Amino acid sequence: MTSNLSEPMNLNESLEELRQNTIASIAAAIDSDALASVEAAAIGRESPIAAARRNLGKMPGEERRDAGRLINEVAKELEALVAGRRDELLAEERAASIRREAIDVTVDYAELPKGRLHVIQQVMDEVCDIFVGLGYHIEEGPEAELAWYNFDALNTPPDHPGRLESDTMYLDYGKPEDEMLLRAHTSPIQARYMEQHDPPVYIVAPGRAYRNDTIDASHLPVFHQIEGLAVDESIQFSDLKGTLAEFARQFFGSSTQVRMRPHYFPFTEPSAELDVSCFNCDGGSSSCRVCKGVGWLEMLGCGMVDPNVFAAVGYDPDAVTGFAFGMGVERLAMVRHGIDSIRHFVDNDVRFLNQFPG
Ligand code: PHE
Repeated sequence: MTSNLSEPMNLNESLEELRQNTIASIAAAIDSDALASVEAAAIGRESPIAAARRNLGKMPGEERRDAGRLINEVAKELEALVAGRRDELLAEERAASIRREAIDVTVDYAELPKGRLHVIQQVMDEVCDIFVGLGYHIEEGPEAELAWYNFDALNTPPDHPGRLESDTMYLDYGKPEDEMLLRAHTSPIQARYMEQHDPPVYIVAPGRAYRNDTIDASHLPVFHQIEGLAVDESIQFSDLKGTLAEFARQFFGSSTQVRMRPHYFPFTEPSAELDVSCFNCDGGSSSCRVCKGVGWLEMLGCGMVDPNVFAAVGYDPDAVTGFAFGMGVERLAMVRHGIDSIRHFVDNDVRFLNQFPG
């Protein structure tokens, strides 16, 4: 700033020069720091305007009043311009920082592949859905089980061969009343449920079961079962057969036939195994890869609930009858999909798993 405002003679001109230069500098200030420098230089304590004000005292009355008014006018105008420019710059700086810190939520990141249910879970869900459609509801029970529920309540005496350590995985072995094991089937859920609920009973119970089996093409030490139990006032063997026939038609196809062969289970009397006609060859081909020409597929164990089981859980064996069944889920999946080894279910090979998108 070259003008000297303390010289009264050129105060007008000098003020005008300062005014115009400052207006241009205010407009040109690129940020609030630059603007602060312009402000200090033009109207701050060390500025020509401040100096001119200090000089007013030396002037004669008339001149002093005019000069004072002039200085104030220019100073006010410049202050207002600085304030306006400061607002502008702050707004710009704020907008810029918002732009800098913004996250673009529209960016399309690489999508992770979606997982899917394991084929065993898919089959379990499908079977349970069929029984829910028939009026059953779903129950579960613990995998670490008392020997009482796994055996005794199910009419299986202490000397039954299935109770040997060589067959069952014990967590605690010795005194029968304290024994704990990994349940060898889902049937203990029958006993647990009846102990807690009055009849009628219509339940299916899916879950894991454990046996001391050596792994081969059809055995795993950990596998899955679905238990079924119906107890009511006048349930007959024909109800069991009709229910399983309906299940087989829904699961394997509407032309599926069923047949029963006598069998033995400690907790059902009479007991049976259910076969379904081969859905692949309809029981008609000697070279069928699914049934190996037999025409029938072994499906599950079942029977009428033994009165001793009712007595063990506190039901009156003279007042109710019922049926139970238990099916292996891996077996169902293998038959349905023509899978040749049960090991595929646990190998976790995506080339296998990808074949069951669900
Ligand atoms: N729990 C038997 C098994 O694991 C199957 C079964 C269940 C049989 C219910 C009859 C009734 O082999």
